[in-house]
Amino acid sequence: MPDLFEILHTTRAMRRLKPDPVPDELIRKILEAGAAAANGGNFQRWRFLVVKDPAIKQAVQVWYKKAFDEVVGPRYARSAPPPGVTQERYARQHAAVEYLTEHFHEAPVWIVACLEEGTAAPNRWSGASIYPAVQNMLLAARALGLGSTLTTRHLLYEKEAEAALGLPPGVHSYAILPIGWPMGNFGPVGRGDLSQIVFQDRWGEAYPAVAAE
Ligand SMILES: Cc1cc2nc3c(=O)[nH]c(=O)nc-3n(C[C@H](O)[C@H](O)[C@H](O)COP(=O)(O)O)c2cc1C
Repeated sequence: MPDLFEILHTTRAMRRLKPDPVPDELIRKILEAGAAAANGGNFQRWRFLVVKDPAIKQAVQVWYKKAFDEVVGPRYARSAPPPGVTQERYARQHAAVEYLTEHFHEAPVWIVACLEEGTAAPNRWSGASIYPAVQNMLLAARALGLGSTLTTRHLLYEKEAEAALGLPPGVHSYAILPIGWPMGNFGPVGRGDLSQIVFQDRWGEAYPAVAAE
């Protein structure tokens, strides 16, 4: 088992997944890691829908792809690489995003992270009570050698995708994690320099401990 810091620094978006089945014991471990996360007031309004049914995944993939064709694809085509990412790596990411779009439903298992919120509108506090669980699940999957990606694109067609998932009224989805054995290898994440994003005491002033080398 890799050590925690190795897991943290190599939990990348793994978008190319084999369709081979994933044992339920491993999915259970991932879910347990999710439900170990902190959440506001410890209300535990999270709900995790495990989806294996090909027809349901396919029905959601239609909306996921439509959102790519209409919004995400064109945006990639005109945007520059983010900090810490080379042009070449960005192009590889785009290709992987397109691959996942086409094969989203072929991931053997999805975990759909939801909150049972009743009539309350989703807000920053709701997100703060589900994304720690989502990140725990991504880290747990990585620790088990399973690939996944935090995806939210289905929210561009939220109503349609949630209807395809059969979510009842008052339940909102926050992420879909397609999970499977990765085709490629885990590697280090590429992010910007800490010195660009960390300040000390006053906005814009350097924190010397993370000064650029
Ligand atoms: C809030 C959020 C939403 C995301 N939604 C998607 C998505 O819908 N589809 C996708 O392929 N990747 C999605 N990602 C993954 C990011 O695009 C990914 O982390 C980024 O490309 C960097 O890749 P890396 O983590 O492998 O370095 C999302 C990540 C976050 C944090």
